[in-house]
Amino acid sequence: MFILLSCSLRSEHLIMTLAVIAVYANCYDVDDSNKITAGNVVLSPGGVARNIADAIGRLQSNNPPYFIGAIGNDSAGTLLWNSLEHVNRDGILLTKNCKTACCAIEIEGLHGPTFAVNDMDIHKLITPKMIYEHEGIISKSSVLIFDANIPLETMKAILVLCMKHEITVWFEPTDWNIVTKPFTLNLKNAITYISPNFKELRLLSQYLTGKTYESDSLYRNLNTLLENARDYALQVLPFVPNIVVTLGKYGVLMVKKNSNNPEIMFYESTEQHNKENVFGVGDCMASGYIVAMQNGLPVEQCISVGMNTALQSVISPQTIPETLSYGFLTKSPQMFELPLTGRIYL
Ligand SMILES: *[C@@H]1O[C@H](CO)[C@@H](O)[C@H](O)[C@H]1NC(C)=O
Repeated sequence: MFILLSCSLRSEHLIMTLAVIAVYANCYDVDDSNKITAGNVVLSPGGVARNIADAIGRLQSNNPPYFIGAIGNDSAGTLLWNSLEHVNRDGILLTKNCKTACCAIEIEGLHGPTFAVNDMDIHKLITPKMIYEHEGIISKSSVLIFDANIPLETMKAILVLCMKHEITVWFEPTDWNIVTKPFTLNLKNAITYISPNFKELRLLSQYLTGKTYESDSLYRNLNTLLENARDYALQVLPFVPNIVVTLGKYGVLMVKKNSNNPEIMFYESTEQHNKENVFGVGDCMASGYIVAMQNGLPVEQCISVGMNTALQSVISPQTIPETLSYGFLTKSPQMFELPLTGRIYL
């Protein structure tokens, strides 16, 4: 999936993605797997890049992102279509030949997914040809965002076009088992930003170095977590010059290429809410960061806006809170105050 988002009349954000209906099943009793169990089942529009398009469209309603994707001519497709009212939907292919992508996710408690079934055959319709048909829009866009669900040849077309037109490319890894996908193309520095979580960063770093890391002590303490994340990110840096590592409730680690030494900063979160909803939090973080970046704000404020946007998702039962708005971004001074104990240079 990828996303392109409009930011001013002359530059647009482009989001390229596969829109997905997600069915979340939160099971109350998982002791006996051989029975039908009671639970809370929620049907929700999803897909990483769709979430980002949704959030950016709300944060920047005066300049909606342009979304490229495919949906089926079915009730799930209608639901997705309606969920993107505030986004430019001209790039969405409606087809009667495939059903809308669907993902069924089983959740136990607040720990995120334990099991998922992806039905995403429709992704094969997001072809390199579809990308080339959008070359005009891509060449005018300020940031192109894509996720890992689209086919590899399509990723290649995106990256080649973006290099040709010197477009900033943001890759949201989607899931640890597909994080390496665009890196198999061997197009060094085609991706400008990557926003992995710890597990995705670790897997990508192992892939790029060809090493297998010993199991690390992720939950032992924050310092160990940060040291590991820093070391992994430094291995990824020759391939991607800006790495925004989302570390859940701890905060965000930013690693940037510089002319001399790499810049490594950890922004610690002071707000540690009980999670209402873990889905969409990373997508909101990326969306806030991207909108702030497009408004010319310095890195620190991009992180702050990203973390504030993520926080809105954490405390909301919705994946992308409907309360996100442009007003929220411009009128709330706290958006620009760091919800952080401070920056730590590593
Ligand atoms: C979608 O389905 C409806 C009927 O269910 C039909 O009238 C319409 O032409 C279809 N559109 C496409 C693009 O297939």
